[in-house]
Amino acid sequence: MNPIPTIIDSDAGIDDAIAIMLAAKLPQLKLVGVTSVAGNVGVDKTTHNCLRVLEFTGMDVPVYRGSAGPMFRQRVDAAFVHGADGLGGMDLPCHTHEVEGIKAWDYIYSEAVRWNGELQLIAIGPLTNLGMAFVKYPGLPKLLKRIVIMGGSASEGNDTPAAEFNIWADPEAADIVFCSGVPVHMCGLDVTMQAHLTPEEIDEIGKIGNPQSKFFRDVVQGILNFLSQFNFPGMHMHDPVAVLYAADDSMFEASTVGVRVETKGALTLGRTVTDLYSDAQWEKNAFIVTKIDRDAFVKKVFELMSKY
Ligand code: BDR
Ligand code: CA
Repeated sequence: MNPIPTIIDSDAGIDDAIAIMLAAKLPQLKLVGVTSVAGNVGVDKTTHNCLRVLEFTGMDVPVYRGSAGPMFRQRVDAAFVHGADGLGGMDLPCHTHEVEGIKAWDYIYSEAVRWNGELQLIAIGPLTNLGMAFVKYPGLPKLLKRIVIMGGSASEGNDTPAAEFNIWADPEAADIVFCSGVPVHMCGLDVTMQAHLTPEEIDEIGKIGNPQSKFFRDVVQGILNFLSQFNFPGMHMHDPVAVLYAADDSMFEASTVGVRVETKGALTLGRTVTDLYSDAQWEKNAFIVTKIDRDAFVKKVFELMSKY
C-alpha cells in the first residue's frame, strides 16, 4: 500500500512531540507538512516546537503557522501541564529551518487540491486551523480523504468535567469540523485514557539509548509528576494514539456515530455530544474510537522508538 499523504496539525505540546516522533517512523504515513496552532501554549511557541521536533527526527518537512487563538473566543492554554515553552523546558537544539510564508489553512487547501481526495489530516490540537480552512474554502471537504483527531470524549472531560481540552479550547471550530461532511475519526479520551505508559515503561524507552528515546523519557517527567496527584497509572499518550490509528487501525475498535459539539452550555461547553448509546440516532458523521489493545500499543511505541 502506498503511504497516505498526511498533514499533522499540532499545538506542540509534549505528547504532540512524541506523536510527531512516532509519525516519522511509520511507513504507512507520508508526512507532507505540519501546521501549528495555539493550544497548549501560544502559536509562536508551538510553531517553534514543531520546527525543532521535526528537525530532531531528521525529517525535512515544512511547517506552516496557524491561528494564534480560537475562532470566536479568548485563548486558553495548558502551560501548567506542558511547561511555559510547551516542551517542559527541554533543551532541544535550535532549528535551522524557518516557518513557511503561507498560513496553515491556505496550505491545507493547496495540499488538498494537490492530492485530490487522498490527503488525510491528523489534528492533535484545537481545531481552529481546520475550522478556518472549511470557512474559507467551501470546496475543501470534497478534497479530503478523512480527518483523524485527538479530541473529545463520549463521557467525561479532562479540562472541564464535560470537555476535553482540544475541543474546549475552540468548540465552534470543532463543530465546524464535525459538520464538514468529511469523515471524522475521533480518538478521544474514551480510547486515549486506555493508552497510558507507566513510569517503568517510560524508563525502559529511555534505555533504548538513542537521543530521541532519551528525550521521550525526559520530556514527560514534568507531566508524570503533575499526574501523580490524580492516582493515574502513568501518562496517557493522547496525541500518539491518533497518529498510530491514522497509520493502522488494527489495534483499535471503533463505532459509527453522530457527533456535535456543545457551544453554549454553561456546564457543558466543549462537550462532544454523541448518539453512541442514544435511542434518537443522528446522521453519522464520525467514527468514535472506543478501544485499544494496550499491549500492542506499548509494543508499537517501543518498536518505533527503536528505529532511531
Ligand atoms: C490533549 O490536550 C493537550 O494538552 C494534549 O496535547 C492533547 O492533544 C489531551 O486532552
Ligand atoms: Ca496536542
